[in-house]
Amino acid sequence: MPRLENKQTVCALKKKKKLGEKISSVTAYDFPTAKVASDAGIDIILVGDSLGMVLQNRPNTLGVTVEDMVYHTRMVSQADPLSLVVTDMPFGSYHLSPMQGVENAIRFVKEGGAEGVKLEGGRKRLDVIRAILDVDIPVLGHLGLTPQSIHALGGFKVQGKLKEKADEIIEDAIALEKLGVFAIVLESIPAELAQEVTQRVSIPTIGIGAGKHCDGQILVFHDLVGFTNVYLPKFVRKYADVYSTIHHALENYIADIRSGNFPGEEESYRLKDPGHHHS
Ligand code: KIV
Repeated sequence: MPRLENKQTVCALKKKKKLGEKISSVTAYDFPTAKVASDAGIDIILVGDSLGMVLQNRPNTLGVTVEDMVYHTRMVSQADPLSLVVTDMPFGSYHLSPMQGVENAIRFVKEGGAEGVKLEGGRKRLDVIRAILDVDIPVLGHLGLTPQSIHALGGFKVQGKLKEKADEIIEDAIALEKLGVFAIVLESIPAELAQEVTQRVSIPTIGIGAGKHCDGQILVFHDLVGFTNVYLPKFVRKYADVYSTIHHALENYIADIRSGNFPGEEESYRLKDPGHHHS
């Protein structure tokens, strides 16, 4: 089949919701991860600003820069994945003015190869989202626990547990849909609330810690493959234990070096003419 027919697009994703087909999404920050995600059939690759915590070991995502995101988006897009590539706009890259947001979104597309951008927030961010949509860059919304608001929220806490806050999230989702975002990430909210949002909007909802009724799910790659051996939130399901696999491999490598078992004959080159020695 021609490649273009397999390439994931925002239109195809919206159609998936109408057909009741679930959407799969995972983060990737580099070529090998993007390649394996695409080969496995993942619909959306998110170059998430979670890379600030996962790759840079920061306590939150606030310090991630536009340069960081351009670089990692380029590493991902150079894998030429069939998945749709969406880049997170980092904190401070769209908060000053709609024009600032448009300029940075254009950088992610032009220099990084992004096919869409994700911005956190609802009605507060309508002007900047409208401006980005106006230059025809698809936008993914993000509501609920929005990690760039960590200090205002008082920590990584489940959002929308009380009716007033839940209603705000519903109103934000409706406003984002009206504006024209192609989908909305719902992070760390009660499953019942995510279900209601999912029913109230015609665009797909992509959940993370938002229960099973969302139109799709997203997880941080390193969490789901068990590449980190640190604290994992309740909503993560660990599908592999890559940390242990790599740890074990490295221990064996060290032992083989120390014992002289590596490299062996099969990993060594030989002279063509054994009688002839280079000094
Ligand atoms: O930064 C990120 O990776 C995210 C997802 C976890 C939704 O925002």
